[in-house]
Amino acid sequence: MQAILRSPPILRGSLSPPGDKSISHRAAILNSIAQGDAVVENMQHGADVLATFRCLQWLGVRYQWLHERTVRISGVGRDGLQEPTTILECRNSGTTIRLLTGLLAPQPFFSVLNGDASLRSRPMDRIVQPLTAMGADIRGRRGGARAPLAINGHPLTGISYRLPQASAQVKSALALAALYAKGDTFLEEPAPSRDHTERMLQSMGAQVQYGDRSITLHPLGSELQPLSFRVPGDISAAACWLVAAAVHPQAELQLEGVGVNPTRTGVITALRLMGADIALENERLQGPEPVADIIVRSSHLHGTVIEGDLVPQAIDELPLIALAACFAQGETVIRDAAELRVKESDRIRNTVSELRRLGADIEELADGMHIRGLGRLHGANVSSHSDHRLAMLLAVAGLIAQGETIIRNPQAVAISYSCFWGDLKHLAREALISSPE
Ligand code: S3P
Repeated sequence: MQAILRSPPILRGSLSPPGDKSISHRAAILNSIAQGDAVVENMQHGADVLATFRCLQWLGVRYQWLHERTVRISGVGRDGLQEPTTILECRNSGTTIRLLTGLLAPQPFFSVLNGDASLRSRPMDRIVQPLTAMGADIRGRRGGARAPLAINGHPLTGISYRLPQASAQVKSALALAALYAKGDTFLEEPAPSRDHTERMLQSMGAQVQYGDRSITLHPLGSELQPLSFRVPGDISAAACWLVAAAVHPQAELQLEGVGVNPTRTGVITALRLMGADIALENERLQGPEPVADIIVRSSHLHGTVIEGDLVPQAIDELPLIALAACFAQGETVIRDAAELRVKESDRIRNTVSELRRLGADIEELADGMHIRGLGRLHGANVSSHSDHRLAMLLAVAGLIAQGETIIRNPQAVAISYSCFWGDLKHLAREALISSPE
């Protein structure tokens, strides 16, 4: 399958990006162990979140889609999960396997988690090691470093642990385990990562204290209250349109209801550092999460340095920032981002190889990328490497490059943004010469 794109003369319009993927996973998992029903609106239904739902179903949780994006989850309570009679298939989803491993480690039953080839190649020792220190019995390939993971549920004890890397998936896996552990758990991170789990747990009645880069969890003394709310639009999806509009010479886009949790807005910070014209309007709360409407207009960008605490706040958007840097005046350096190498694909290597095909002056660093802005890219034949974020990156590149861009495996977008090609058509119908749908 392939998609063929060219740059439209104008990029104008408004849209509401799909529900945030990270928040959707957590809304599904935490409501499953709450006592009673929750109705969650704007739930993402990309392949990753659906993988989480299917696993929860095998664990005895019932849910019903009331509408395309609204789901009722019937929580089974803290101790209501059941032993799955089959392998839990997490497919491509790191959030699914890591959070569920944390949840299942303290359950009084046996479970096995698996994933696709990409997920089976990603590091699991980062959760298996601290969970083992809490008393978990988890086996996997390479001494527990790779899935499949087999969990012999076992009572756990709270720990004090410093995460070697800023990772919301690791932090959340340990937080879920900590709810069932004996004694408190204290976690510290080298830089702040997304705090959706902490916010949601607090508003569901759990005893959680957290700051910039630390979190203290107390075991669940009583049942979690179900949390009904509307999931904010995904800033990682919105980021595609932020970059497309900032770079395109004739653009103005309005993105409605986007999550602007400060642990996730690194892409806005980075683009503003580069001179992008981005305004936030109508800031409000949806459940425990802040949202806003975002207006972005054509901008003259200049190079910058992205490093340190900004990196985890923009981790999934760094390839898009590298694309913006190709159109910025001067040099851009992205560093402290070695984590990109262990995502759904090696996003440093693949971003550099595909943007080079489009004419970018970009180099790999061990922990990031170095880009010299040339002010233009040209169309080429490129591959998503079956990575959803790269498929979207290349589609955005196709909206701003000269000539035709042909993307192989464009359907990978369905992992996190199933209506991506429809939204692209809505904003710039003439850009899509051949659609994957
Ligand atoms: C996620 C956290 C990030 C991010 C991933 C989703 C989450 O991973 O890259 O897409 O939902 O917690 P890490 O926490 O491993 O950096």
